[in-house]
Amino acid sequence: MPNHACDILSTDRPASCTLVIFGGSGDLTRRKLIPALYSLYRQNRLPEPFVIVGCSRTIMTDNQYRDKLKAGYENIGLDLSDWDAFSSLLNYYPLTYDLESFSGLREYLVHLDQVNHCRGNRIFDLAVPPSLYPIIADLLGRTSLSEQRNRNNGWTRIVVEKPFGRDLESALALDRILHASFKEEQIFRIDHYLAKETVQNMLIFRFANSIFEPIWNRHHIEYVGIIAAESMGVGSRAGYYEQAGVLRDMFQNHMMQLLVLTAMEPPCRLEAGSVQDEKIKVIRSLRDFHPDQGSRICLGQYGPGTIDGVDVTGYRQEPGVDQHSLVPTFALMELYVDNWRWQDVPFFLVSGKRLPRKKTQIIIQFKEVPHRLFKDVLGETIGANRLIIEIFPEEAIRLTFQTKNPGASICLRSMTMDFTYNEHYQGEPLEAYARVLLDCMNGDHMLFWRQDGIELSWSVLTPILQECEQCCNRDQQLHIYPAGSWGPEAADSRFQKLIHTP
Ligand code: BG6
Repeated sequence: MPNHACDILSTDRPASCTLVIFGGSGDLTRRKLIPALYSLYRQNRLPEPFVIVGCSRTIMTDNQYRDKLKAGYENIGLDLSDWDAFSSLLNYYPLTYDLESFSGLREYLVHLDQVNHCRGNRIFDLAVPPSLYPIIADLLGRTSLSEQRNRNNGWTRIVVEKPFGRDLESALALDRILHASFKEEQIFRIDHYLAKETVQNMLIFRFANSIFEPIWNRHHIEYVGIIAAESMGVGSRAGYYEQAGVLRDMFQNHMMQLLVLTAMEPPCRLEAGSVQDEKIKVIRSLRDFHPDQGSRICLGQYGPGTIDGVDVTGYRQEPGVDQHSLVPTFALMELYVDNWRWQDVPFFLVSGKRLPRKKTQIIIQFKEVPHRLFKDVLGETIGANRLIIEIFPEEAIRLTFQTKNPGASICLRSMTMDFTYNEHYQGEPLEAYARVLLDCMNGDHMLFWRQDGIELSWSVLTPILQECEQCCNRDQQLHIYPAGSWGPEAADSRFQKLIHTP
């Protein structure tokens, strides 16, 4: 039986609070936030009392809001046996983004506090397009809704979703606006990748075992691959994606976090500040992106193709996309971390849409054995060891090594030792959004971005974006790949080796 040293997630319920969701009738709320809250409800992890207020422009009553959400979940077959009890927590407040409406919201929240005996604790979740972030933060400030009376009785927090700006300058501007009304300790910047079980397990795997750290460096590792492949296209998000593209959508945040967790030094304490400090050091050590110094990038965009036997359109034919769009939906980037541990080890970061299947993993490719004993004798190719930290489709860790094939002759065979979460842990898994919401209720910043990390991440990415977006032959730099293929042929051959890992 596995030895569970402790359940990291406390079973204590967080303090009673009200969660106000701006964008309450939007896509993110429907797809992620409400299902996460519903699953927390079913696991008895929500505070008591707890109140949810969905806010958006549509005029609806509480009951219409509850019914609308429920109808959406009936279509996707969610187990709704506890929905009616859960939905009593749901309230709806129609809102326009102006002072009068926010003053009304303030009165409404005071009223809800009294009726529900909440203690005045509030979380404002910005599940809205980023253009509304400054407006909402400003209105929360002007109506004093951002104020907190003291830490233990009446705290106020704000949750911001990525993208945190679209370059360094706009990230700084957003931060100034948030800080005009909120203190840093009140701000929670979500990256849902950080809440994935395997991603969190990176810290434990690396720093709670003594056998990996001695070989976790340039002396033993040939390269690191970080892959986030998706079979989905841009879907209904063309408006956002046309402005973002894969670099802003996936690299500035999720891919950077995976790189940082792989490359960071052990923190001195398991608390948010120490962990964030170590992460920051990695981003600061990233080599300036320059082809003369080994860094490379390959950009692609999906054209029409076939996925799972179904014909799909190309990116430029998606509704809402400019038919001459030069926005990349695929990128392969080669980066270097200039420090004693990682000098000259390539980090390949790859992410793309409309690839053959969804696959998210970190690959640690070890060096070949120094003396090729078996190759010389048997003419065999000996695969070097490879460690795969898989995030999707399975949350798993797999180590590939060589064994002797049973029989009279000496014949090598690659075998994989694996650990999968599903097989070894039976409890209901906590979905990433559920985890981050719970941490926000508990005031724990460990799984959230800190502003200095965001700024550093943009400092790395902004020159690359400028280079890609302002170069004169932009169209030639963008390689069209058929949907359902593993990206442009121009992508590095080492990428092909990475991506064809089972
Ligand atoms: C989001 C991106 O942050 O992450 C999406 O905006 C992407 O474009 C998604 O599809 C991937 O997340 P996951 O958890 O499905 O790997």
